[in-house]
Amino acid sequence: MIEEAMLMAKEYTTGLKYFINTMGCKLNENDSEKIAGMLTKMGYSEAKSVEEANIVVFNTCCIRENAEEKLFGKLGELKNLKKQNNMIICLGGCMSQEKHVVDKVKQSYSQVDIVFGTHNIHKLPEMILKKLTENQKVFDVWDIDGDIIEGLPVKRTGEKNALVTIMYGCNNFCTYCIVPYVRGRERSRKPEDILKEVRNLASEGYKEIMLLGQNVNSYDGGAGYHFSNLLRDIDQIPGINIVRFMSPHPKDFTDDVISAIADCKSVCKVIHLPLQSGSSKVLNLMNRKYTKEQYLTLVQKIREKVPDVTFTTDIIVGFPGEEEADFLDTLDVVEKVKFEQVFMFIYSVRKGTAAEKMPNHVPEEIKSERFNRLKELADRITEEENKKYIGTVQKVLVEGESKTNAEVLTGRTRSNKIVNFSGSKSLIGKEIDVEIISEHVWYLKGKAV
Ligand code: 5AD
Ligand code: SF4
Repeated sequence: MIEEAMLMAKEYTTGLKYFINTMGCKLNENDSEKIAGMLTKMGYSEAKSVEEANIVVFNTCCIRENAEEKLFGKLGELKNLKKQNNMIICLGGCMSQEKHVVDKVKQSYSQVDIVFGTHNIHKLPEMILKKLTENQKVFDVWDIDGDIIEGLPVKRTGEKNALVTIMYGCNNFCTYCIVPYVRGRERSRKPEDILKEVRNLASEGYKEIMLLGQNVNSYDGGAGYHFSNLLRDIDQIPGINIVRFMSPHPKDFTDDVISAIADCKSVCKVIHLPLQSGSSKVLNLMNRKYTKEQYLTLVQKIREKVPDVTFTTDIIVGFPGEEEADFLDTLDVVEKVKFEQVFMFIYSVRKGTAAEKMPNHVPEEIKSERFNRLKELADRITEEENKKYIGTVQKVLVEGESKTNAEVLTGRTRSNKIVNFSGSKSLIGKEIDVEIISEHVWYLKGKAV
């Protein structure tokens, strides 16, 4: 039916263009690549801007606040364009799994034609076909976890690097997080399906893959096949030189995963290990299932087994009940681990999560004061860690021209640092040696050697 709908739509879509607005994480980016794949197969081509689009898809994220206001603002702006372009407006992604969002759309945003959820993106072609042929609005959001649908067409955004989702959903229910409510329970793809996708990517010339899931190290391929087995099997695939993964959970970081990271040449030795808080009290309130000490012990253990490993992390400041002493524990862990990069978030209430009902919410001004203090420390450490690169020669996968200066090429080291340098465009897509000459917090400057 998916194939059929895609082919039948062709009759109506000649000359029509699509525009996808993607919010949020890499999993959403990968979903958008599948949506783009399906729209292309339906006969649409990609619009350069929303103004020239005949169909617009919002792939939304609801992990933090503000996104809702932004979305409704954008929907408002499209009201006039819709008439001009006879535009179809579709709303999907995590926000459309939230009842209050769909209710608001039904009540006040009549310009929206199609609402689909995170479990049924494969139904989008059928929904669009219905709109095209019967001019009917289609609202279809599933509460139950959808089956994993293999074989959807994918229009990749990366030239040499590709996203590969290995599992969907999350079972952890961290008390601040909305994800388990909008993405459902954990479901892993079959190992053979993942390996087939990676082999195909290798044969198409991709060099780098990023394995994605809310909690990749609880991947369960069945019959005792875990994340470490997947890493080892992918490492054997010729052509894929760089393997990254996002995000693991510290509580599931078993010894076999550490050994696989150490043993597999292609697996990058930079690990994104979300800390969220350095205080054992707050971690307990967050339902993270580890303490400050256990986190530090894990980092130590990984450092012993994986030479030259580095870490990046996510931290939330101002979780309910976080006191000054707790925040100091967070700073202490940041100082001890020396993260190469810290992704910092100010806690925001998500409707329906356990933390919403917790006492002692932290006043906004204290949250932002703590955020600034954390940023200052994290930036200082990033700078110190970056300085260690100066004078070294790094393997850099060249991704393209710099967005701000076409004279400059940009790429990333195996440790995921952005490197800018001058060089011929023929280097794009290759992994080359670059000597690092200076650091600029968000990127390193180098010269090809
Ligand atoms: N408030 C602030 N940050 C949050 N995150 C998840 N939920 C919230 C929230 N309610 C952060 C976590 C997670 C990252 C993707 O977003 O740090 O790791
Ligand atoms: Fe959210 Fe925690 Fe699941 Fe990550 S592990 S998606 S933070 S509930």
